[in-house]
Amino acid sequence: MIPTLAWTPEGVRFIDQTKLPLEESYVLATNYEQVADVIVTMVVRGAPAIGVSAAYGVALGTLQSTAKTASEFVPEFSRICERLASTRPTAVNLFWAIDRMKRVFAALLSAGATMKQVQDKLLAEAHAMYEEDIAACKAMGAFGGALLPEEGGVLTHCNAGALATCGYGTALGVIRSAVEQGKRIHVYADETRPFLQGARLTAWELMADGIPTTVICDNMAASLMHAGKIKAVVVGADRIAANGDFANKIGTYNVAILAKEHGIPFYCAAPWSTIDTATPNGDAIPIEERAAKEVTHHGGKQLTPHGVGICNPAFDVTPAKYVTAIITERGVLRAPYAESLKEMELIAG
Ligand code: MRU
Repeated sequence: MIPTLAWTPEGVRFIDQTKLPLEESYVLATNYEQVADVIVTMVVRGAPAIGVSAAYGVALGTLQSTAKTASEFVPEFSRICERLASTRPTAVNLFWAIDRMKRVFAALLSAGATMKQVQDKLLAEAHAMYEEDIAACKAMGAFGGALLPEEGGVLTHCNAGALATCGYGTALGVIRSAVEQGKRIHVYADETRPFLQGARLTAWELMADGIPTTVICDNMAASLMHAGKIKAVVVGADRIAANGDFANKIGTYNVAILAKEHGIPFYCAAPWSTIDTATPNGDAIPIEERAAKEVTHHGGKQLTPHGVGICNPAFDVTPAKYVTAIITERGVLRAPYAESLKEMELIAG
């Protein structure tokens, strides 16, 4: 399995996603500040991976604290959580993971736990999130794999694979599972300007699995759909609002509109930790604006004239009306999503 992130006695180890596919190297974050930095610089990226990384960051900060008691640790714990929460605004998994760590800490605090118990329990919670994430991807894969065609092209955007999770992937987990079910899938990976998650990361990890993959430029999808080469689209999500609108990598919205126009099913695969019922609709999802340099430069080389205006929103929102189904580890949700999401939440308790 691709070692996206791993806990080690020295800290959290990340495969450096800014260097793939040409170089397979690792970054060791030995304190929580460094974990925050690897999230900001996208050494690690993808909503579920960001969430679990932040949980490990909290655990690391806790283990390194010199506080003698849990109550003495309270202000430092808040600072650690705030720093990690300030890294990237759109993927709700980040806040979900930090909130989960906060709840564990609050319970330990009120139970009068020792600092050692707090350290052990917070690390155990981060490990649990790591394992749960892989299990969720596998479950999503089983549900979603059944929805894909027996054979043909499946388009994906960005990287919602093993590299974006603790392993297996969400959208790519669905594709992996379909292939494991014997389906003859050919993946079309949008290159995904400007960070090129599709061209670099999706292509790299699917090739490692021997899944036939073709990288296309983002502006080629319409023509491939028109030519009948795309039978389904499956993408991940960074935040799914209560009405089923969802944020994902910039360009996902374009693909959704194209899929609808061509009568192609458009699936969104995401774990329950990506669902944010406190956000009523897509307009309320905060969209991260990243540095202009990601657009103006590539591989250290400037592409655009000095001083030109640049816009770099990292995500867009796809309205629920374009989504054929949302695939989660709890099952497959269909419109109206406001109702199916609420229903599934109640069933799962
Ligand atoms: O900016 P990134 O690379 O973190 O954006 C990632 C995406 O948009 C993914 O599609 C999303 O996080 C789902 S990952 C399973």
